[in-house]
Amino acid sequence: MADMTQTIAQLKTEFTGLIGAATDLRGLDDIRVAALGKNGRITGLMKTLGQLDPQIRKETGAALNVLKDEIAALIEKQERALKKQALDEKLATERADITLSVRPERKGHIHPISQTMEELTSIFADMGFTVAEGPDIEDDFHNFTALNFPPGHPAREMHDTFYLPDDPDEKGEAAKKLLRTHTSTVQIRAMRSQKPPIRIIVMGRTYRSDYDMTHTPMFHQIEGLVIDRNTHMGHLKGCLMDFARSYFEVNDLPVRFRPSFFPFTEPSAEMDIGCSREGGGLKIGAGSDWLEILGCGMVHPNVLKNCGLNPDEYQGFAFGMGVERIAMLKYGIPDLRTFFESDVRWLDHYGFDPLNRPNRATGG
Ligand code: PHE
Repeated sequence: MADMTQTIAQLKTEFTGLIGAATDLRGLDDIRVAALGKNGRITGLMKTLGQLDPQIRKETGAALNVLKDEIAALIEKQERALKKQALDEKLATERADITLSVRPERKGHIHPISQTMEELTSIFADMGFTVAEGPDIEDDFHNFTALNFPPGHPAREMHDTFYLPDDPDEKGEAAKKLLRTHTSTVQIRAMRSQKPPIRIIVMGRTYRSDYDMTHTPMFHQIEGLVIDRNTHMGHLKGCLMDFARSYFEVNDLPVRFRPSFFPFTEPSAEMDIGCSREGGGLKIGAGSDWLEILGCGMVHPNVLKNCGLNPDEYQGFAFGMGVERIAMLKYGIPDLRTFFESDVRWLDHYGFDPLNRPNRATGG
């Protein structure tokens, strides 16, 4: 027994020293295995208990249990200390230096088309319009026939576009695919799928085979359509006047409506706003000149019929304008082609700060 007491005391001293000297978790685990593992030294001693006298066995067993618990507790303590030390080291070496100044990165800009479309959405949303969409790849029916452009009508010539091969899954006019020349196609889609009252705006890409300072093969339009039981020309004028004054931010902006022609509206008009060109620059507002900004009119009875609406019951008005054009006018951009050249210097100059964009509350 005396031998055993000594052995236990020795083991305690030995392992306490080893545990205290362990500098990493892996080494500490090796010590645990050496002491308490299946073939560990303390475990080994436990296995010899069976050979001892009952009285001695009891005392030795109790002493070994105490040793076992002490060693386990020491290992656990050391483990916590090592983990804390490792974490402290990590925190010290991986600390982010928040005093570093920001890298001079390039700032992106919002394209004037996106900016303008958002302004338009906001103005028309305030008047109760919702946004509708339609496909860029259209068919002859929606782009022309349903809009009262009969086959072979000369007005089709003004909308020369890009034609795609016939769609083998469709028949007749639905098979004739083309890139839409205007957003008026969505008037048809809306009237055929929605019950009046209808009050929508449509924004998106349109295509025509033109290319000069004021025309690109792809451009954007915004279209409006209102259909209800008693809608008349006065509503059209009021709505567009409010829109123009709000968009150009000129409260007493003069406007005028000139008679015009579109196959899908009757009567049709073009809307001009007052401007001055004195001194070479263009100034929107009072002045002796006029500037055309959009086409509009009362929806033609044939179009209503083509969409299954009774013209004696429903009337409405429609308008359409070029997004680039009104962006050029408001923001003084001289050449339409530059919108799509992807020159980042142009975007830096004409684009909008994403965090400080003009809006209806702060003004443009
Ligand atoms: N779709 C016509 C165009 O592109 C514009 C327009 C729309 C005219 C709606 C009247 C009514 O020229």
